Amino acid sequence: MPFPYNYGVNSEKHVTSTKGVAEMDSKTIEIIKSTVPVLEQHGEKITTVFYQQMFEAHPELLNIFNHANQKQGRQQKALASTVYAAAQYIDNLEAIVPVVTQIAHKHRSLGIKPEHYPIVGEHLLGAIKTVLGQAATDEILDAWEQAYNTIADVFISVEAQMYQDAKNQHGGWDGFKSFVVDRKVVESEVITSFYLKPEDKQMLPSFEAGQYISVKLEIEEEKFTHIRQYSLSDAAGKDYYRISVKRETGNETPDGIVSNYLHEKMNEGDTIQVSAPAGDFYLDTGKDTPLVLLSGGVGLTPMMSMLNTVVDLQPERPVTFIHATGNGRVHALRDEVKRVAEKGNVNVVFFYDSPTEEDRETQAFDIEGFVTKEWLRENVPHNDTSFYFCGPVPFMKSVNASLKSLGVTDKNIHFEFFGPMGSLE
Ligand SMILES: Cc1cc2nc3c(=O)[nH]c(=O)nc-3n(C[C@H](O)[C@H](O)[C@H](O)COP(=O)(O)OP(=O)(O)OC[C@H]3O[C@@H](n4cnc5c(N)ncnc54)[C@H](O)[C@@H]3O)c2cc1C
Ligand code: HEM
Repeated sequence: MPFPYNYGVNSEKHVTSTKGVAEMDSKTIEIIKSTVPVLEQHGEKITTVFYQQMFEAHPELLNIFNHANQKQGRQQKALASTVYAAAQYIDNLEAIVPVVTQIAHKHRSLGIKPEHYPIVGEHLLGAIKTVLGQAATDEILDAWEQAYNTIADVFISVEAQMYQDAKNQHGGWDGFKSFVVDRKVVESEVITSFYLKPEDKQMLPSFEAGQYISVKLEIEEEKFTHIRQYSLSDAAGKDYYRISVKRETGNETPDGIVSNYLHEKMNEGDTIQVSAPAGDFYLDTGKDTPLVLLSGGVGLTPMMSMLNTVVDLQPERPVTFIHATGNGRVHALRDEVKRVAEKGNVNVVFFYDSPTEEDRETQAFDIEGFVTKEWLRENVPHNDTSFYFCGPVPFMKSVNASLKSLGVTDKNIHFEFFGPMGSLE
């Protein structure tokens, strides 16, 4: 069974191996492999029961999990399906290290600790038992307990290394740390940037262009804390971390909690809790082959960090910077892109799908409409070219399909989801 999503594993650098993780006997492995399809078949029911029971027993975990993702059922499937998929590789755990690494970045950024794993294990097992009833024999449950513990050990060891690395950097730390909003800058009608500086005035650790931080908010009228990820939107090496946040207004759904709080209530001088940069979606500056950075809407943020970085470190490298958005009113960081591009070998192309009269008069954009396969075929290199993209899921699906059909290989395709990982197929 393949992994449930195309995780878009980006980095070839993985932090650890599975050495030291206990091996299981062949009988147990056989039981696991033969029962994976049964668990998958009841996947949705098991995960629903699992989360219900876990949050009932451990409401404190609602301080870590994203409630909107839970309500939309977006995250539920990810955790349990990954356990089943990983179980298929129980006799070849090295094979899952790249996927574990990617998830572990998010876990580390959220502050997931070894002591959380037995809680998830207990409730996952409990849910399997509840849903399968008599069919879940003691032998099957024992085998799954062993499998879960083995997989959990891989996560725990990868994450332990990541906490160490985060702490050992110059100026590094391994949990959440207090930052002050030094500047708040409106970039468009929907996007505002926050320049964050450490409250203790220590130096800032470097990071890879494309990585994100997590912010943790305690909002007065909210019962739980809320953690969200934001990509760093400027290059490393500054005395601040910059994030650029889109205000998520719901139509029939509630307004986004954190983005609206940041826009409305978070002001210069206020403090915010931040975890150290994480993520394996980042620019490989070891390569000098052509680079194409594609973004839709607020998916612009990691591309800004990559653009700023590449012109500093590799000014000769050919770059095509493509940004698609609605119109000039929602177009953030336009002037910065133009200014930075002049420092390197960069071709900038702006797509607007609903330009205003003013946009036409001021020639604010290059192309009206969406980024298409035909346009990409005619206007960007695709042989031995690295593509990085981020944006709304339909945008990412369309770009991914276009690149695949143009023959771009998986190793040259890198992407980031601004939410739970999903499928681009
Ligand atoms: C790696 C990564 C990097 C990211 N980088 C950025 C970035 O640079 N800039 C940026 O702006 N964002 C970024 N994001 C997204 C960001 O983390 C948040 O998801 C985003 O700001 C929305 O958070 P929120 O608290 O405002 O909304 P939430 O409260 O989390 O709500 C999210 C959505 O769910 C809907 N919703 C809420 N409750 C319900 C319900 N009961 N039923 C149905 N729908 C509901 C809301 O209307 C809203 O549209 C990134 C995400 C990831 C994973
Ligand atoms: C072996 C066990 C585990 C597996 C296989 C697993 C898998 C996953 C996966 C696939 C994701 C989605 C990543 C993404 O969308 O980017 C995720 C996210 C997450 N995981 Fe885990 N996980 C495990 C253990 C845990 C534990 C022990 C906790 C803490 C109690 C935890 C908390 C979270 C949280 C909070 C998120 C972010 C999701 C959100 O808030 O929407 N996970 N995990």
